[in-house]
Amino acid sequence: MQKNIIKNILQFDPKEQEITVNGWVRTIRDSKGIAFVELSDGTTIKNLQVVIEETLPGRESVLKRISTGCSLSVTGNLVPSPAKGQALELKAVSVKVIGEAPPDYVLQKKRHSFEFLREIAHLRPRTNTFGAVARVRSAMSFAIHKFFTERDFVYVHTPIVTGSDCEGAGEMFQVTTLPETDLPMKDGKIDYSQDFFGKKASLTVSGQLEGETYACALKNIYTFGPTFRAENSNTSRHLAEFWMIEPEMAFCDLNLNMDVAEEFLKYIFSDVLENCAEDMDFFNTWISKGLIENLQKIIKSDFKRISYTEAIDELTRAKAKFEFPVKWGADLQSEHEKFLTEKIFDQPVILTDYPKEIKAFYMKLNGDDKTVRAMDVLVPRLGEIIGGSEREADYNKLEQRIKDFDLDPADYWWYLDLRKFGSVPHSGFGLGFERAIQFVTGMQNIRDVIPFPRAVKTLDF
Ligand code: 4AD
Ligand code: MG
Repeated sequence: MQKNIIKNILQFDPKEQEITVNGWVRTIRDSKGIAFVELSDGTTIKNLQVVIEETLPGRESVLKRISTGCSLSVTGNLVPSPAKGQALELKAVSVKVIGEAPPDYVLQKKRHSFEFLREIAHLRPRTNTFGAVARVRSAMSFAIHKFFTERDFVYVHTPIVTGSDCEGAGEMFQVTTLPETDLPMKDGKIDYSQDFFGKKASLTVSGQLEGETYACALKNIYTFGPTFRAENSNTSRHLAEFWMIEPEMAFCDLNLNMDVAEEFLKYIFSDVLENCAEDMDFFNTWISKGLIENLQKIIKSDFKRISYTEAIDELTRAKAKFEFPVKWGADLQSEHEKFLTEKIFDQPVILTDYPKEIKAFYMKLNGDDKTVRAMDVLVPRLGEIIGGSEREADYNKLEQRIKDFDLDPADYWWYLDLRKFGSVPHSGFGLGFERAIQFVTGMQNIRDVIPFPRAVKTLDF
């Protein structure tokens, strides 16, 4: 393992000790015959200042080859820096150019727009912003595993290829090896019995249904994996491929489910503030002012919990202008969700008990026969960040709901079986990982918090 990463070096006590460090040049400037190189190795948002003095052997020929973007291996002495801006610097004893970067390297001093950087997704991790996003993403994913592991949840790997539509929304990408022309047909329809799996297959929209089978055996489980949605939503909060964390808990009702969701969000927010302090300072300064203070406020306060019906009342009373009308029975649009969290409550809100028609078939029906035990966690700026529910645990009611949604109970036979043998109340939720990263970093567009975004008409890399 290489210990001399810049993140560690910057914590060293500079006592003229000789070290070797590798990285990429961010900038180079010459001042009175002394060259200053800002070296980055991506392990921290900070650079290491390398000083190349006139006495360095072979100085002229090496300087000619150093430019922004090139990679270097530098051996030198770590000393306290006499100048402002950094506590220490590396006085070079030998400088090796590992890979040159010709002048057409685009990441020069100029700040580029995020839109442009999306077109060079292979180079954007070398910018401050995308380096910071990548480190925060990694730390958050570790925090998520820590949260569940500390609470004895079992991490379950649910399948990517599936034969069932979890959300019943018909937004699935098909997986097939059938030929592009001369499709096998039977009774005027494509004959999927000749396809790879012998039936129609798709990429999963959620690991929940399979997750439930493990929760109904191991009590508390979670999944954390990629999910896919062929939603035609060209917005700053939708991706076609995104990662989702889905805990599922047996012997758990909606109230406990809400408690876990709230504790979970607060845990990962605090963890990132603690473990990614420098990157979070960067986001707070350059991307979204007040970000840190806002997260701290959220960690300390209780989320507001109200029913969908109460939310509709609040929105109606507010008499604000919305693009989509507010009406009991209609799905809330992101403008409504944001209005609730930003204008009315000024904090995260958990909405429960939505009309049954606008939520998935698996949610537990309330006694009123009109609403289901659903919960959405809404946050300022983004709207929905978590969607979840208590699940229908009654065999007959679930079968009826499947039929109401024009789905075929035969396709869900194993899911129904869970309600036949030792059925238990159980609940869970899904956190959109990229939305969580957006919220924590303040990044505006979801395409900038995943390394290689896949969205409608977007598959550039
Ligand atoms: O509300 P959703 O559709 O819920 C489910 O998939 C349930 N099966 C979860 C469960 O109960 N286990 O999605 C959950 C979350 C949303 O709240 C949102 O944060 C995110 O996933 N999400 C998306 N993120 C990015 N792009 C998309 N197209 C997304 N669709 C949902
Ligand atoms: Mg949802």
